Amino acid sequence: MQYEEKLRQEARYWGENAHILFQSGAIPYDFDRRKATHITDPNIFRILSARRSDPVAEEIWAGENIAYILELSKSCKDAIDLGCGGGWMTLELARSGIAVIGYDIGEGRLQMAREYYEKIRLEEPGVGTIIYKQADLNKLELPPELIDLAVSIGTFHHILENRRLTHQVYNALRSGGYFIIMDVAEERVRFANRVGNFLLLLFLLPVPSYIPFASRILHVFFSFVSIFLGHDRTHHIKIVLKRVLLRNKKIAGGAPFEGAGMYTEEIVRSVFKKVDVSYRSSFGIRNRLNFKLKNRYAFLKLLNKIDNYFAGSKVCPGTVLFLVARKD
Ligand SMILES: C[S@@+](CC[C@H](N)C(=O)[O-])C[C@H]1O[C@@H](n2cnc3c(N)ncnc32)[C@H](O)[C@@H]1O
Repeated sequence: MQYEEKLRQEARYWGENAHILFQSGAIPYDFDRRKATHITDPNIFRILSARRSDPVAEEIWAGENIAYILELSKSCKDAIDLGCGGGWMTLELARSGIAVIGYDIGEGRLQMAREYYEKIRLEEPGVGTIIYKQADLNKLELPPELIDLAVSIGTFHHILENRRLTHQVYNALRSGGYFIIMDVAEERVRFANRVGNFLLLLFLLPVPSYIPFASRILHVFFSFVSIFLGHDRTHHIKIVLKRVLLRNKKIAGGAPFEGAGMYTEEIVRSVFKKVDVSYRSSFGIRNRLNFKLKNRYAFLKLLNKIDNYFAGSKVCPGTVLFLVARKD
């Protein structure tokens, strides 16, 4: 597949369910972390990777990192959010009173984010300005001295030209400015880790989950297959299977640039002099739990602790990178 075609598919994939997410008055986490309601992603095409919008679970999973970013943002004036998606982080930054530009390739969600921001602007008069721009981050040109904070959540592993983008960010930052990345470190999701991941998924199989049991079995099965065939080929098999099972040849084949960007830490270290890095979480349990016990979140916290314990091990090292770089 040609680059442009792949990119169109990437944009389609991330935009396809934006309008469905807002159905019946729900507010998805992807759009607003503070007002998010508890919903299930109803998109049947995501049957193998059912997502949740569960603000409490997200907070347990990434709350500390988010709090850190927002604390930093208080001393900033201008920021950008690279790969902003539905704009939840863009909005959080704007709530610190600063001007933010959110860039993304998925026009579907960008448009929903624009509309949502217009609504929030009326409800919250102190919120800073947001501009959502459709852009390919592989080719993004940023003017020098534009910003004092650049944030990117869950996106760098989709960016082929991540070195080029890092240079762009460096040039766009004012002196003393920050570049923060929270993302999957793809190079860590390799063989040993896949074995560890598979074992952990087995361990999770009996835990009540929002993902239907049959889907979880498939999930575990594909996790096993990917140990031998690798991510790309497994991804391809999944798509073919979905098209056959759902008898729909037009089903968007996932995000084609998933895993395209690797070695983020090394790349950022080669451009910035001051870089702090930590890794956590091996298997991102946050989307998977569902039971009505009162202490569900206490249990989730415990699982998160187990997860982060594994993140320090060699078999299943942490795959979520939290990186803070500072320009001199
Ligand atoms: C996992 S999502 C994360 C979205 C958002 N930051 C969040 O935390 O919810 C990855 C995002 O990267 C965007 N993306 C992928 N490739 C891109 C590219 N080449 N240029 C711009 N955005 C891209 C997708 O559209 C998607 O919104």
